[in-house]
Amino acid sequence: MDTKIIAPSLLAADFANLQRDIEMVNQSEADWFHLDIMDGVFVPNISFGMPVVEAIAKHAKKPLDTHLMIVDPDRYIKTFADLGVHHLTVHYEACSHLHRTLQAIKAEGMKAGVALNPHTSINLLEDTIQDIDIVIVMSVNPGFGGQSFIENTYQKVSDLKNLIERKNSNALIEIDGGVNAGNAKKLIDLGADALVAGSFVFKSEQPAETIKHLKEVRA
Ligand code: DX5
Ligand code: ZN
Repeated sequence: MDTKIIAPSLLAADFANLQRDIEMVNQSEADWFHLDIMDGVFVPNISFGMPVVEAIAKHAKKPLDTHLMIVDPDRYIKTFADLGVHHLTVHYEACSHLHRTLQAIKAEGMKAGVALNPHTSINLLEDTIQDIDIVIVMSVNPGFGGQSFIENTYQKVSDLKNLIERKNSNALIEIDGGVNAGNAKKLIDLGADALVAGSFVFKSEQPAETIKHLKEVRA
């Protein structure tokens, strides 16, 4: 089996040494940069916004996988496209007109993603899965890095895999929150295509080695 996509989350990087940490990811075997945008309303935390994304985009040499944990994300679709973001993922719970939002993201030339909170059922994607490029299955409640993995995620990954196959969708399955060497294999076995890892990578002694380690996990 081929290797899976590894997306280090810069939320766990050292913001005083951001360029150094971006270079580490550039040089590593990682595939994407995962950017967590939090507004303090949809989630109980504020992360970083446009000026930081712009600075990251200047140095990053891999696709920017951007995860919006914000209310009313439609307001910022064009802004993120202009900043050079490649994937834009909105939360299912934050969109009243998800289908329209997905079309708007694609019209700006980005891949369109939908993230599901731990309490949100996979079944709710039944009518949109064919329009989605990436589904982020949240394996923690969004808002903070460093939380522990919620075990029910395994069931959701296999339900999502079934839905994607049944509907002939090309959506990628991305897992976000508490991912580490202990759960990566099972997630991949169940059908995960992409793994986000924040603390596990950046709080390790040799982040590039840790990325390499995750990259070596196969089904
Ligand atoms: C949580 C964010 C995650 C977070 C992952 O709200 O969406 O992307 O950065 O961090 P870890 O890997 O530390 O759980
Ligand atoms: Zn995220």
